[in-house]
Amino acid sequence: MGKAHPLLHAGSLPVHALRAEFPILGQTINGHPLAYLDNAATTHMPRRVLQAMQQFEEHGRANIHRGVHTLSQSATDAFEAARATLKAFIGAGDGHELVFTSGTTEALNLVAQGLWAGGPGKAWLRPGDRIIVSGLEHHANLVPWQHAARMSGAELAILRPDAQGRVHLDDLQQLLTPATRVLTLTACANATGERPPYEAMLALAVRAGALTVLDAAQAASHAVPDLSALECDFMAFSGHKMHGPMGIGALAGRRAALERLHPLRLGGDMVDWVSYEAAGFAQLPARLEGGTPHVAGAIGMAAAARFIDQTGREAIDAHVHALRAQAVTGLSGLDGITVLAPHATQSALVSFVAEGVHPHDIGTLLDERGIAVRTGHHCAQPLLEHLGLGPTTRASFALFNTPEEVDRLVAAVAHALEMLR
Ligand code: ALA
Repeated sequence: MGKAHPLLHAGSLPVHALRAEFPILGQTINGHPLAYLDNAATTHMPRRVLQAMQQFEEHGRANIHRGVHTLSQSATDAFEAARATLKAFIGAGDGHELVFTSGTTEALNLVAQGLWAGGPGKAWLRPGDRIIVSGLEHHANLVPWQHAARMSGAELAILRPDAQGRVHLDDLQQLLTPATRVLTLTACANATGERPPYEAMLALAVRAGALTVLDAAQAASHAVPDLSALECDFMAFSGHKMHGPMGIGALAGRRAALERLHPLRLGGDMVDWVSYEAAGFAQLPARLEGGTPHVAGAIGMAAAARFIDQTGREAIDAHVHALRAQAVTGLSGLDGITVLAPHATQSALVSFVAEGVHPHDIGTLLDERGIAVRTGHHCAQPLLEHLGLGPTTRASFALFNTPEEVDRLVAAVAHALEMLR
């Protein structure tokens, strides 16, 4: 191993030892060592997560809540232990519950649909109500609310960001009316890195009588929101953005709020009794978890939460902030580059546009040097259009990334600009 990078200072994460835990990082891409900087889309799994899932699939696999046989019972225990681990990870208390979903998108759909479905007199959302969605959102936290507004007759109000992509408490205060029934916003905007003052915003909305929804997908790997300290009714997050598997996620929140949701998935395991004519739904959490769940996924997601805690939340957070700061400084020094939300020092990503150059071309040239980034609208087209920008190039960091990789990113972007201009 070469000389330590000056930015990898004493007391920081043991990054090189951590990297050894991630089999996927050892490969070369186009003749260069992989520099994986697309962690906001999907990050990677350490061996201990892979092993936890493999152990279940090889020795513990069976359907849950359905069998008297030993394997079914131990699979049920493992699934419920994963739930308990994840509840502790996010600070859930006695008044909270967590249901497994396929990811953040399903979790947010479950809330949005669950609040208008259920039949006359039962739904939380009614004609004339107001739903406030922040203008920072990923499509998964906007499109389901557009649909909920159409189906319920509620009105959709957008908390518009300023020209720098920030949302403000005063603006939220203006939007809150006695008819407001929902506020939904992100803990970190995936397209810009903006970290809104979500604690204060959720509290303001609760005081106005609204239910509150937090999309924590981009925060779960390094800045996990603490449910016990938040006025949060529903919080969504995904396994694959926190070093866990794809296809698993969670909706957590206040039990009383979750009980308001009409289930999205109707069928086996979410009912108490069924006749040919009708059915009675089970208690939480089963009520919102119809069908056979991704049991290995839940076990892997819980192993990922343990991995994050064993590594150290504060150390991970400090590490990704330092990498982002290094990237912002390096990229801002290049001719014609504009970094979005440069003030968003608490995020783990940097998103930028380059004058006269299309992000897909930059991304392709970076890939030729083994550097993986995401380019495009990042499923947040309204926000980028509101900011007067088109698609961007986004580099996003995880605990296993190094300052050397950030140096490579900056050098490769400089090279791409030379080639493309
Ligand atoms: N939401 C993911 C991203 O930001 C897919 O890339």
